[in-house]
Amino acid sequence: MHNTFQIKTFEEYLEVYQNSISEPEKFWADIASHFQWHKTWDNVLEWDFTKPQIKWFEGAQLNITINCLDRHLPEKANHTALIWEPNSPNDSYRTYSYQSLFNEVCRMANVLKLMGIKKGDRVCIYMPMIPDLAFAILACARIGAIHSVIFAGFSANSISDRIIDSHCKHIITADAMSRGAKQIPVKAVVDEAIENIDFIENVLVINHQNWPVIYKENRDISYDILKQKVSVECEAEMMQAEDELFILYTSGSTGKPKGVVHTCGGYMVYTGYTFANVFQYQSKDIYWCTADIGWITGHSYMIYGPLLNAATTLMFEGVPNFPDPGRFWQVIDKHHVNIFYTAPTAIRSLMACGIEHVLPYNLSSLKTLGTVGEPINEEAWQWYFDHIGKGKCPIVDTWWQTETGGILLSALAGISPIKPTHAGLPLPGIQPVLLNSDGNEISENNVEGYLAVKFPWPSMIRTTWGDHERCRMNYFDTYKGYYFTGDGAKRDENGLYRIIGRVDDVINVSGHRFGTAEIENAINQTPNIVESAVVGFPHDIKGQGIYAFVVVENFTTDIENLKMQIIETIVEKIGRIAKPDKIQIISGLPKTRSGKIMRRILRKITEGEIENLGDTSTLLDPLIVEEIIKGRI
Ligand code: WTA
Repeated sequence: MHNTFQIKTFEEYLEVYQNSISEPEKFWADIASHFQWHKTWDNVLEWDFTKPQIKWFEGAQLNITINCLDRHLPEKANHTALIWEPNSPNDSYRTYSYQSLFNEVCRMANVLKLMGIKKGDRVCIYMPMIPDLAFAILACARIGAIHSVIFAGFSANSISDRIIDSHCKHIITADAMSRGAKQIPVKAVVDEAIENIDFIENVLVINHQNWPVIYKENRDISYDILKQKVSVECEAEMMQAEDELFILYTSGSTGKPKGVVHTCGGYMVYTGYTFANVFQYQSKDIYWCTADIGWITGHSYMIYGPLLNAATTLMFEGVPNFPDPGRFWQVIDKHHVNIFYTAPTAIRSLMACGIEHVLPYNLSSLKTLGTVGEPINEEAWQWYFDHIGKGKCPIVDTWWQTETGGILLSALAGISPIKPTHAGLPLPGIQPVLLNSDGNEISENNVEGYLAVKFPWPSMIRTTWGDHERCRMNYFDTYKGYYFTGDGAKRDENGLYRIIGRVDDVINVSGHRFGTAEIENAINQTPNIVESAVVGFPHDIKGQGIYAFVVVENFTTDIENLKMQIIETIVEKIGRIAKPDKIQIISGLPKTRSGKIMRRILRKITEGEIENLGDTSTLLDPLIVEEIIKGRI
């Protein structure tokens, strides 16, 4: 058997898939041989889901940036690697060839070294969507530092929790950013985040907007000054395949966000392979993923996956509705984008703005469309297919997670069958299963169950930073012998998967994950709040909205003011992205006699299913339910 890197037909997919299941190690060794390794592996795979311990390509040495950059220079030095489209269409865009991207990355890598950053150090990156963010990530990877990117919508408090958890002594940030018509300080938020942290050694500041910044002596350094002192050559640090590449924090059903850890070798092989296959990238295609680099989609399919394939990747600083809701389509025409990858929430919100914002653009460069982050409803799918793809572009509905590192379920564009609202078949090497509530596999088709994976793949989560037990408990304990995704799914008569949504206490708001407990903890820190319960409810644009039920200590008549205080606390503790859509003040929560909050009832109420609440007579106070129904928003 010899697998080509890029699958070309459905028959080939079926054959490759079969090979990847019957001889997984051989399959992945073959795929891995398409990359550049300093030393090859002694052992392809070692695994034990009970611990969990997962090791891919042990003994191998590599640097992912050699594969993203150096490897392409002999033939593609002048090929465009990165196109940067600024927030305002009136400002100039920038392009970077593979050679210039290489130079920028090496330059920043040398600056990081000057700052004393070494292999294995964690570096927190809190930045807007500017080219320097890509340089920063790759510069860390170049010198073997572990990057921890924090989405620039998170608050100082969230940054501080993440910095403490992974003990980042070094931070890279920028002065300020623009999002639509707003200008938002960035460095000032970092200042607030680290005010009480005593181990920060330095903060590197990129000047993006000439925004006034306060430099703290002996801590803060301007990149413009340091970059004068270094060369544009920087040898790549050799990494073991299982050395950490990055940490990315994500919300789970319990406690604070956890640091998902990905490692160098497996992550490289899987993101490189899946990018080439899912999007069927062809040389010279212009590819645009609209996700922010602060999320996993930005890591895997804006930076690493495309660059590993010598692709041209577009990075957009702005938002879909600025200066008007035609911006995405204008950018597609302007840069002749061939492959466009976005989120259902963006599609739904642009659809709601009206077709008149699409019609002025011809969109004829588009070949392939993609979605990610949440289930896409039929109506949005159809609108995307008809009006953006003009009925000729396959849509890949890609299902995956921060923890999976790369796409696990998806059609291969133009190759596999496409069924609206279905993610489709597993990618080669992926062995998904549906489990019933006893944890037994349901083998037939036309069924529904808990989605799990029974065999490792190269880019899967290795641990949660600083707390391996938490990783085990969260993903490997519920169903023994499986990686459990937290999602429910259906499998149709042809084996195509359709994701239903989370089955745990995680809500997915516009593709952003929040633990209900995380939001409740924030709300409960507002003065005069006794307790709260947060549930997700169906929302036309966001997929899910946040509904907070709040119990106050002393009843107040100034409800609006109280709600404002709650929102302010959430913005302060988590960030503006976690603002609730609805807040209902109630006198008590529906609880069982043992004190457990009955979220199921709350969820039903928010969904309007009040006829269907089940038996409420066993509740501690059944009257509460009536009160909540009456006051629902
Ligand atoms: C959801 C984003 C339906 C799912 C890459 C998952 C999806 C969570 C899809 C992970 C999809 C992601 N269809 N649901 N195509 N893609 N999800 O970690 O519930 O931000 O568990 O990773 O998003 O979100 P995360």
